Amino acid sequence: MLLEELVNLKNETLNEIEKVEYESKKDLQEIRVKVFGKNGILTAMSKGMKDVEPQDRPKVGALINEVRNSIEQSLVEKENEFKAKELNEKLENEKIDITEPSKGSLKGAFHPISDVIDRMIDICVKMGFSVVEGPEIESDYYNFEAMNIPKNHPSRDMQDTFFINDNILLRSQTSAVQAREMEIQKPPFKIICPGKTYRNDSDSTHSPIFHQLEGLVIDENVSMADLKSMLMTLMKRLFGEDTTIRFRPSFFPFTEPSIEVDVSCPTCHGKGCNLCKGTGMLELLGAGIVNPKVLEMSGIDSKKYRGFAFGFGLDRTAMILNSIGNIKYLYKNDIRFLEQMK
Ligand code: PHE
Repeated sequence: MLLEELVNLKNETLNEIEKVEYESKKDLQEIRVKVFGKNGILTAMSKGMKDVEPQDRPKVGALINEVRNSIEQSLVEKENEFKAKELNEKLENEKIDITEPSKGSLKGAFHPISDVIDRMIDICVKMGFSVVEGPEIESDYYNFEAMNIPKNHPSRDMQDTFFINDNILLRSQTSAVQAREMEIQKPPFKIICPGKTYRNDSDSTHSPIFHQLEGLVIDENVSMADLKSMLMTLMKRLFGEDTTIRFRPSFFPFTEPSIEVDVSCPTCHGKGCNLCKGTGMLELLGAGIVNPKVLEMSGIDSKKYRGFAFGFGLDRTAMILNSIGNIKYLYKNDIRFLEQMK
């Protein structure tokens, strides 16, 4: 009787296990509890061994073991099968396609002004200049008086700036750094000073904040020829080997003689285009031989030393190099504009 029950239990349970689908894999645990649990069927049957006739016990015991082993084995096999399936599913879902093209990393760019400053510094340092800085909030003395622009002199009209009080202003030119450096450096020396400058000007090519790069060379026997050859080298390195330059007589209180320097238009190479308004040339900087009065005011012996100086508009340079039509784009901080500078 018990033997028969055991055989039935085995067959039914194996059958049940066989039918369990992956989707209802929890049923396996239920079967396990139903058969082997504390109140499980086989547990009960094992307990019933004590009622079996002693001579039948070995046989019944062996059968119980056999049933237990085969159900256990069948459960484990099925569970392993499901575990493998689960793992495969997981691997399938989490598969990384290593051949998929990358989305690319976000690339930044330098602001066109910073880029021009870096390039100019690079070129000038190779020519033996050292880089200095000066304050943007400057005294009337360094910005004007030491540059031979006395108080109430009409030449002040060329550079109307923002005054904080009668003697403190936002520097209108990096030339202010000339006097500061001449007071502390011992000639001969060669310096450049890039930085922000301010004037009461605003249109498509002028901004109240703009950037200049000042150059100053003080040495014995410095001449206009040295200035010309140095500027020619600088322009060619900045705009390309085929660049030509043109000097026009001009006036600055702190240089004598003074010139304005034009470069051949890098877009049309001198033929005439929109950028250069058909002239083939672009106005880029002021320069000249340092006025001996300026040297003397800063304590440099003008009998022994001479100098030349130049002052670049960096915004204009950046606009030319990047074909930017309006200076205001440089100060809008519009990400769409900046992204084009990559
Ligand atoms: N500081 C002058 C300006 O801003 C430019 C300049 C610099 C001219 C050095 C001559 C020498 O207009």
